[in-house]
Order: sequence, then C-alpha cells, then structure tokens
Amino acid sequence: MRILGIESSADETAAAIVENGTHLLSSAVQSQINIHKQYGGIIPEVSARSHIEVILPVITTALQDARMEWEDIDAIAVTYAPGLVGSLLIGTLTAKTLALLKNKPLYPVHHVKAHVYANFLLPQPPEFPLLSLIVSGGHSQLVLFQNHDDYKILGRTQDDAIGEAFDKVAKILGLPYPGGPSIAKAALGGNPNAYPLPKAKLQGEYDFSFSGLKTAVLRAAQKAIGKDHTFPSYQISSLLSEQQRVDFAASFQKIAIETLVDKTEKAFRAYSPTSLVIAGGVAANQSLREMLQEKIPLNIAYPPLSLCTDNAAMIASLAYYQSRNHSPVDPRKLEVIPSLSM
Ligand code: KG4
Ligand code: ZN
Repeated sequence: MRILGIESSADETAAAIVENGTHLLSSAVQSQINIHKQYGGIIPEVSARSHIEVILPVITTALQDARMEWEDIDAIAVTYAPGLVGSLLIGTLTAKTLALLKNKPLYPVHHVKAHVYANFLLPQPPEFPLLSLIVSGGHSQLVLFQNHDDYKILGRTQDDAIGEAFDKVAKILGLPYPGGPSIAKAALGGNPNAYPLPKAKLQGEYDFSFSGLKTAVLRAAQKAIGKDHTFPSYQISSLLSEQQRVDFAASFQKIAIETLVDKTEKAFRAYSPTSLVIAGGVAANQSLREMLQEKIPLNIAYPPLSLCTDNAAMIASLAYYQSRNHSPVDPRKLEVIPSLSM
C-alpha cells in the first residue's frame, strides 16, 4: 500500500510517499526557516500564506522523485492535529480536495504520534513494547507503546517544551532561529560547567519542566553582564562576550539534555521495553544521542536528521498502521484540531 503523506502543521511544508509504512519512496520538504529567521520565531499568518504557495509544487516533487503518477497512490494521509490552525487548514484542505478529486481514501494523522514513526522507516524498525522520548518544538513526553494502537503517556512537560526552551534561550543569547541547532553548535566551543543551572524537581516521576531553566539562564546572563533582574532580556545578547555566549549555550544544553536522559533512563529501567526511540526535532541533538547511548544498554538507532524534524514520511508511515485497524474518514467531514494531545 502506497500512501502519500502531507504535513503543514508548523514551518515545514512537506509531502512524501511511503510503501507499507516502512519503505520510503520519496520525501520533499520545503522549510520556512529563512522566512521566520528575520522575526526570531514563527508568525502564524506568514506561515499559512507560505504553505499555500508551495504545497502543490511540494506534492508534485514527491510524486516525481518517486517516479509515480496518481494511479500509483493508494491513499492520502494528512496532519490534522496539533499545530497552527491556519497552517493545518492549508494541508487538510489540500488533502481533502485531492482525496475527492483523485478518489483516494483519506487518513488523518496526529503529528506528535507520527514523529515516533520516523523510526519505522529505519532498516530495522523498532519492536514493541516500545519506549519513545518525543522531543520537539511543541512537545516533550515519554510514551510507552504496547502496540500501534495501545500506548500510555508516562510523563509530559508541565510548561515549555524542550525545543521551545532551546529557541527561547537562543533568543536571550543572541543566537539565530531555530535555537536548537544554533545552541548545539555554539555549545561545542563552550564550557558546560561555566554556569551552574538548576534541574526542575517535579511531582510526576516522568514529567518535565523547562521554564525554570530558561529563567535561570536569563538571571545568570543578567548577572554575568553586571545587571539586575529588571534588565530587558532582548538587550542582554549585545553585552555578552563570545566566550560567555558559548559557555551559556553549553551550560544550558548540558542541564536540558541531562534532564531528558535522567527521566528516559528511569522509565527504561522501570518498564524494560524491547526498543527505545527518540523522536521530534530535538532528537537531532548529537549530545542527546551520545548521552542516551551511554546510559541505555540497547543499540539505539536514529533516523537521519531530515526525518527527525518535521516531514511527511512519518505521516505516511503512521497512516499505514492506522489503515490496518481504522477506516478512512469522509473528506467532507475532516476538521483540524489545533491543540489535541496524543
Ligand atoms: O519536530 P520539529 O521539527 O517541529 C515541531 O513539531 O515542533 O521540532 C522543532 C524543534 C525546534 O524547537 C528546534 O530548535 C529543535 O527542534 N531542534 C533542535 C535541534 N535541531 C532542531 N534542538 C536541539 N538540538 C538540535 N540539534
Ligand atoms: Zn514536529
């Protein structure tokens, strides 16, 4: 079964074709990073307009790269939740129209769950029970899957998502958007022990919290430049030395990643899953990959970076497993749900 996946929930417009959930035939991604860079974050209206302009060319590219015509496609899958409402609407309207026009079954897919499915595109797909650490711009959660349909959220963030924390701290330090890759790069030249930062203590054993860590970086940075807590955050970066900037990046990254690894290791010991995967944009972080591999006695395989950040291959993969137990939806009735947890 060949599924064409469509993704437009945030700042990537993507289309991909996947066969039987595991075999990637093509994956086209058009990022809006260069548009949002100048604002230091995503502007929802700008994002939606950009999706409109590129979505059909991106779908055409996915078909061409796989050397396929519409008759080779068995179904269409699309992200319907969660995400920016305007951006989700462009992807779902396109998918609904194509499903009706080309007479294909339509499967709505949850974006956060789909991130886990980037791992099913690896040469050796993961096995159940499967522990997943989902870490993206909007989500940080530990989820235990017994099978494709049966999963339990062990813990989630109580405030900011980990990717959001990377993005906000990067802004304070004057590093470019998106913050994840630029903090990781800056951290390579910094001392991770230069600034001692706190780890959040929470009631839920597997819950996360990153907002306190972001504030701790803000306070320490104000102090480092000789200012008090009333000094505006957007003026800090111009007063930081290059060494201070990279030291803050390294110190923040160390605590943020250690927090993820501590909780994942704890869940791993408690539930003894057969496989462990990390998913979402922050899974691209090299330091996270290395630290996790040190602590977990399993051979952890990682999807390529292009499948960690937003893409449509993961959407098409999850839709295949959904299609085995669930009927397609009526394209006329599909609605988007901007905030829907897994
Ligand atoms: O999954 P994703 O592409 O979009 C969402 O669904 O949110 O994740 C984007 C997030 C951003 O916050 C970005 O800063 C972060 O992933 N990210 C990273 C790295 N690459 C991307 N965070 C840490 N280290 C990286 N190398
Ligand atoms: Zn995502």
